[in-house]
Amino acid sequence: MTAITVILRDGTMREVEATAGMSVMEAIRDAGIDELLAMCGGCCSCATCHVYVEDGDGTLPPISPDEDDLLDSSDHRHARSRLSCQLILTNADAALRIRIAPED
Ligand code: FES
Repeated sequence: MTAITVILRDGTMREVEATAGMSVMEAIRDAGIDELLAMCGGCCSCATCHVYVEDGDGTLPPISPDEDDLLDSSDHRHARSRLSCQLILTNADAALRIRIAPED
């Protein structure tokens, strides 16, 4: 079990519980946060799960070519952009801080 800090679009901070093997997107949705649409359910085909990894990204999987291509479709991409459905958590993920990106 680990905890992720999630910053909502209005700046509100939430602590979200997560377990190893789940994605950051699943952890956010399981916590009842509905502003992350995640319309494709984690198939890496919609980019509506766009987040910024503000802290603690050292143990996250590297960005794949598919994720990279999808992120290019966002007007709000920047250096810390990731698709949260592609961020599978491990027990080593501590102090992860995620900000939900603006809606495209
Ligand atoms: S949920 Fe669709 S790309 Fe992540």
